[in-house]
Amino acid sequence: MTKIKTISCIGAGYVGGPTMAVIALKNPHIRINVVDMNPEKIALWNSDNMDDLPVYEPGLSEIIQEVRGKNLFFSTDVDQAIRDAEMIFISVNTPTKSYGIGKGMAADLKYVELCARQIGKGATRDKIVVEKSTLPVRTASSIKKIFAAQQSNISFSVLSNPEFLAEGTAINDLLNADRVLIGGEETEAGQKAIQSLSAIYEAWLPKERIISTNIWSSELSKLTANAFLAQRISSINAISALCEKTGANVDEVAKAIGADSRIGSKFLKSSVGFGGSCFKKDILNLVYLCRHFGLQEAGDYWEQVIKINDYQKQRFAENIVTALFNTVSGKDIAFFGWAFKKDTNDTRESAAIEIADKLIEEQAVITVYDPKVKYARMIEDMNYLDTRSEEENEKALNFETDPYEAAKDSHAIAVITEWDEFKTYDWQKIYSSMKKPAFVFDGRNILDHEDLRKIGFIVRGIGKQ
Ligand code: NAD
Ligand code: UGA
Repeated sequence: MTKIKTISCIGAGYVGGPTMAVIALKNPHIRINVVDMNPEKIALWNSDNMDDLPVYEPGLSEIIQEVRGKNLFFSTDVDQAIRDAEMIFISVNTPTKSYGIGKGMAADLKYVELCARQIGKGATRDKIVVEKSTLPVRTASSIKKIFAAQQSNISFSVLSNPEFLAEGTAINDLLNADRVLIGGEETEAGQKAIQSLSAIYEAWLPKERIISTNIWSSELSKLTANAFLAQRISSINAISALCEKTGANVDEVAKAIGADSRIGSKFLKSSVGFGGSCFKKDILNLVYLCRHFGLQEAGDYWEQVIKINDYQKQRFAENIVTALFNTVSGKDIAFFGWAFKKDTNDTRESAAIEIADKLIEEQAVITVYDPKVKYARMIEDMNYLDTRSEEENEKALNFETDPYEAAKDSHAIAVITEWDEFKTYDWQKIYSSMKKPAFVFDGRNILDHEDLRKIGFIVRGIGKQ
């Protein structure tokens, strides 16, 4: 086994940045270069102002301050990073393909392939290449073929080491990972490469938490883990619709079923629908893979998880329109939250986007307050849908840096993200400033509905009457 002293990571995003920061913190003897082709992003990672870091995660800026410039470096020089490192992590984005075969379903592997070609071309000595990005099962075999076609005198070991961190809790998830998964080839070189990577994690995690498997199991386990997590949310969200019709309370149902240790209590929080950059894309990818291998029924089964999620977002928007006397035309609706979950500035696939789109289609005017998301990002999200022009989006979607201002003169508040601070607001003051009757649509069931009703609000939660 080689004791690794130099690592490079290609991709300085939500995974590359925090993961390498923690590895650097726990392995001061390893020099780590994080590289990205986006110079603005690298400049932000190098900024002295910690508020500028391109990723917001509780605890991240403290670690960056401790290790940056010591054994963690950010740069745009990908070729140099490839030459320098004994071990290279590929942490680039793998979005859903937007063109050609598999459009709208398969993972777009162009960034991963670019990395593989660049590594294959630039390597001057043996390398361990680690797939950190989430990839379809059997990607490692394509990566190996690319290496083999470019260099015959250098040995490349390819490992799969998917990342399981969740945004908003990334640092804690990394420091206290339930498990680290490493898939490698069953050859002597493959097993040695696994040991080299394992040693890096053993700097802070007990050995029992490091699971090694064959490479295909590791690649497939990542897609499967996300599919199972998302499936639980869609399952409880499907039940929430039934609760609203029957008088059952989805939070009580979730508590009752979650108390069964076989089911467990996590990921049973009914919501406006799951967002985030990965659940949807990874399930679509899983569906695509099932169908690619002729497993139509298996694909249809997983696709339903996404259909229920779309249904949940649509239902939430429709419930707002229905409750507001079947019209929101010209009405002001305040959105509390735009991020896809609390404690992150990430908005990718946030339910907020489609809910806003639907309400704007009904001619509502929306004012958003989110503690971490910038207005430019929100407008970009809306423009990406391509439903209307940028000017129209800017007209229909406004932004306030103060939640009380966002709520002022509105007809309704829609709680989209479960930011803790929403629970601490002076709701009496908010009520006084709103048009009457004043509505709260609690898309996260985080507020005390009885208290709000006492103030005078008409309240609708998810999965309760
Ligand atoms: P991201 O978009 O935040 O970051 C990816 C970065 O890679 C970008 O900054 C991009 O500029 C850079 N990049 C792309 N191609 C490059 C190239 N050829 N050379 C140099 N830089 C390049 O993406 P992310 O959220 O960090 O996700 C990365 C991967 O990790 C994805 O496969 C994702 O599914 C997976 N993942 C993400 C999370 C998460 O919470 N975001 C969690 C687990 C796994
Ligand atoms: C998810 C997984 O939890 C991570 O393990 C995985 O590494 C990551 O995807 C990935 O591959 O990208 P993330 O999307 O960051 O992490 O956040 P989650 O906490 O899983 O939340 C996803 C969405 O589901 C959010 O919109 C959240 O609000 C929603 N959610 C979550 C619910 O609606 N109900 C729940 O009970 C839990």
